[in-house]
Amino acid sequence: MVKKICCIGAGYVGGPTMAVIALKCPSIEVVVADISVDRITAWNSDLLPIYEPGLEDVVKKCRGVNLFFSTDTEKHISEADIIFVSVNTPTKTCGIGAGKAADLTYWESAARMIADVAKSDKIVVEKSTVPVKTAEAIEKILTHNSKGINFQVLSNPEFLAEGTAIQDLFYPDRVLIGGRETPGGQKAIETLKEVYSNWVPEDRIITANLWSAELSKLAANAFLAQRISSVNAISALCEATGADITVVADAVGKNTSIGPEFLSASVGFGGSCFQKDILNLVYLCECHGLSEVALYWKHVVQMNDYQKDEVCRAWVVASMFNAVSDKKIAILGFAFKKDTGDTRETAAIDVCKGLLREKAEISIYDPHVTEDQIQRDLTMNKFDWDHPIHLQQMSPSPVKQVTVTWDAYEATKGAHGICILTEWDEFKQLDYKKIYDNMKKPAFLFDGRNVVDPEKLREIGFIVYSIGRPL
Ligand code: NAD
Ligand code: UGA
Repeated sequence: MVKKICCIGAGYVGGPTMAVIALKCPSIEVVVADISVDRITAWNSDLLPIYEPGLEDVVKKCRGVNLFFSTDTEKHISEADIIFVSVNTPTKTCGIGAGKAADLTYWESAARMIADVAKSDKIVVEKSTVPVKTAEAIEKILTHNSKGINFQVLSNPEFLAEGTAIQDLFYPDRVLIGGRETPGGQKAIETLKEVYSNWVPEDRIITANLWSAELSKLAANAFLAQRISSVNAISALCEATGADITVVADAVGKNTSIGPEFLSASVGFGGSCFQKDILNLVYLCECHGLSEVALYWKHVVQMNDYQKDEVCRAWVVASMFNAVSDKKIAILGFAFKKDTGDTRETAAIDVCKGLLREKAEISIYDPHVTEDQIQRDLTMNKFDWDHPIHLQQMSPSPVKQVTVTWDAYEATKGAHGICILTEWDEFKQLDYKKIYDNMKKPAFLFDGRNVVDPEKLREIGFIVYSIGRPL
């Protein structure tokens, strides 16, 4: 019988996942622990550290009942039956494999803490996305430090997407649990399965060996990202030929073997995981001598970089007479997708940095991203965002050419052009006539998300560029 669960890492995965476990398993005490005092303080306040539809409701129902947020990681590890590890697994920024391999520093320090403080048998669950064979490394750390304690390592990758995390956790497509093919490993799998059985139908819980579970997570993200790079590659051809990507994607997706989801052409995929996980997969392939396989996956990331660059270079700069210096460009949407305030690897960073190199003045509006966050994103080096150590050392001086407002009309006032970079629903409802009247002419609109109806905006007077659609 599981009485207590501890989760190390109170981030986008640890927080929502544990809140839902607490809600669905009232007899289990769930503690989410983190080294970040600020994050834990926020989890214990009325202003949660992440914006996620439905999350506040779940947290309010359980917090202080059977859900707790704490910085006392050691205490809660020692008391728990199951320990989830949901810390960041960023891309390495230096040394062997820099720019590709996963940096397991945070994972290793969590494992060492578990080994040091555990006084009874534990199930240790990999919730973070990790390279295949990480469980073997973790087992070594745990068993070499233990004092006769039995540790079972399970792989239970998380498949939630931000913006829909609570729905994804309530009704998962699948829950994947990998473990050792030994009696102890199988018993541990059954124990974790019982936790999920409180709300997930039996046929949605897949059990596997450790390596299949670890690889399935990287493979799933690579397949999803590949679809976006594929549709974006076709969108470039649409722009060159006069075809319309919305029609092409609809026609292609009607084949049930392909399906309609995840075929929206865009300014490029962002988020904390796709790029990092594919690069991790590329590195794994290279380490196993599979150079052609590595190249295949690498191109999914390269296509994404191309897409982000093209929006700045071929759309904004080229169409505005190759001269955007000192021109005001409004950016609508900075988050990497709608319904989240998360900006990690958002395409908006690349587009804005490109415009700043051209000396444009940029004015940004996003309903859920703060000025402080935007300034940090625009001054940080690639991959540094996921390394708490770099963040602590940083005291950025703000980029002067950037202003951030909480109002779309203010952001666009006096602008020469507008770039829509996140598909927030509210951007469909804006009064574009009013916006047009307050802009410099000719007024350009670059829709990187196919949010607006280009014909209607052209009728107002805008010069409209939409991803993969005729000019
Ligand atoms: P995050 O950065 O939001 O959260 C990680 C947390 O771990 C941070 O708050 C950090 O302070 C904490 N931490 C790091 N080392 C620690 C330690 N030794 N002890 C205690 N706390 C520590 O990251 P995230 O988005 O929640 O992602 C976590 C993992 O889950 C990653 O491997 C990611 O690839 C994977 N994942 C993320 C998503 C997503 O949508 N964000 C979805 C599925 C899987
Ligand atoms: C993604 C996966 O969807 C999750 O299954 C996975 O668990 C998670 O990564 C993870 O491992 O972190 P997430 O990154 O939160 O989830 O969001 P997505 O909805 O996948 O969007 C990722 C990016 O792709 C966004 O920038 C989004 O705008 C873009 N996208 C998505 C497109 O450009 N077109 C699409 O059709 C779909």
